[in-house]
Amino acid sequence: MNSSRPANALGIDFGTSNSTVGWWRPGAEPLLALEDDNVTLPSVIFFNTEERRPVYGRQALAEYLDGYEGRLMRALKSLLGSKLLKSETTVLGSALPFRDLLGFFISELKRRAEALAGREFEQVVLGRPVYFVDDDPTADAEAANTLLAVAHKLGFKEVSFQFEPIAAAFDYERTVTREELVLIVDIGGGTSDFSLVRLAPERRELDQRQDDILATGGVHIGGTDFDKQLSLDGVMPLFGYGSRMKSDALMPTSHHLNLATWHTINAAYAQKAQLALKNMRYDIVDPTGIDRLLRLTEQRAGHWLAMQVEEAKIALTEQPLQRIDLERIEAGLVADLDRPLFEGAIDGLLQRIRGGVDELLSRAGIRHEQVDTLFFTGGSSGVPALRNSVAGLLPNARLAEGNNFGSIGSGLAIEAARRYG
Ligand SMILES: Nc1ncnc2c1ncn2[C@@H]1O[C@H](COP(=O)(O)OP(=O)(O)OP(=O)(O)O)[C@@H](O)[C@H]1O
Ligand SMILES: [Mg+2]
Repeated sequence: MNSSRPANALGIDFGTSNSTVGWWRPGAEPLLALEDDNVTLPSVIFFNTEERRPVYGRQALAEYLDGYEGRLMRALKSLLGSKLLKSETTVLGSALPFRDLLGFFISELKRRAEALAGREFEQVVLGRPVYFVDDDPTADAEAANTLLAVAHKLGFKEVSFQFEPIAAAFDYERTVTREELVLIVDIGGGTSDFSLVRLAPERRELDQRQDDILATGGVHIGGTDFDKQLSLDGVMPLFGYGSRMKSDALMPTSHHLNLATWHTINAAYAQKAQLALKNMRYDIVDPTGIDRLLRLTEQRAGHWLAMQVEEAKIALTEQPLQRIDLERIEAGLVADLDRPLFEGAIDGLLQRIRGGVDELLSRAGIRHEQVDTLFFTGGSSGVPALRNSVAGLLPNARLAEGNNFGSIGSGLAIEAARRYG
């Protein structure tokens, strides 16, 4: 690694919720300020119908919330590895393949980075989760190949991957002062990724680090799944989730599931779905909930509601109780969410995350007591129940903290400098 001049290549962390771009330069922090002073660009596109142009990041969220007509897309990365990837969506009146949406967003990252750096880049190290798709190697490889093809199409001539939790390890290694056996736990918006690594100050400059990586692993669970469960347990019951039909069956759940899942919200607005809801109304014993659901979809407020749920989840990291004001749906309507409700909602997900860590350690042949350090990164690593649940597995580990939103991008920049000079 040549450490005396700026690197030739970028590191891009295309995240489910937030993205960053790192460019390694001597004596400077690697992350570029992509939106005003912020190093993160939220992974969001808004197609504004009036102005017929896409906008990105915080600006996209602001235009949607200001009530501009248009289509909002979040959690684009969740499309990789999903069946939707092969389909199209309607944007500004024309059909657009979902994979082109990924291209739009990543191209915007490239464009902003090049404007800030004052040069073009032809080489990139892209971060990737350890698994895009759980337990399906073919779908997983397809997701990775799609991302590669998208990056090539944008003009990157050389594109390679690094696992996100390995990139985080390289970022953390900048601060270690002695050899440590470290479990890296990156809980983002879409995936939980782990790596078990041996880190040491004198190893930093080495080009080959394969021997220091004892194991990598992950599960397809992240903060967007926490949002979904919190919504289903704490909010959707107000919108008829779990309502009885006159036949005594439960109301079908697809509308609620679509609205509680970031990347399927727009499906709830489809004409067919709306018609089905209207028809169903007369078969429901108490239509209070479904009437609210109809108002919500008529207002195209699915993303708005999901944002309220996500904000409440984040507030519950600091405080025991959070209220969501649903006045715009019905006068006086609120959803009161508290920590026990949230923790109950995500308990099954936390068990799977712990299971992923156990599996990784056993695959590496390392006992839980041997881990010296537990390094948390990713926005969802803030959730107290999650931290306690993972920390409880490792009796001798010291807790270390990175920048929850920047470690992966910084580590990818270091890796890009190693690979491409
Ligand atoms: N203080 C907090 N408490 C709990 N969750 C939080 C907090 N801050 C952010 N989050 C959640 O963190 C997630 C985003 O984290 P991050 O930016 O690391 O994800 P990402 O890198 O985009 O996703 P991935 O790596 O899985 O593709 C969101 O689900 C967000 O709601
Ligand atoms: Mg991430």
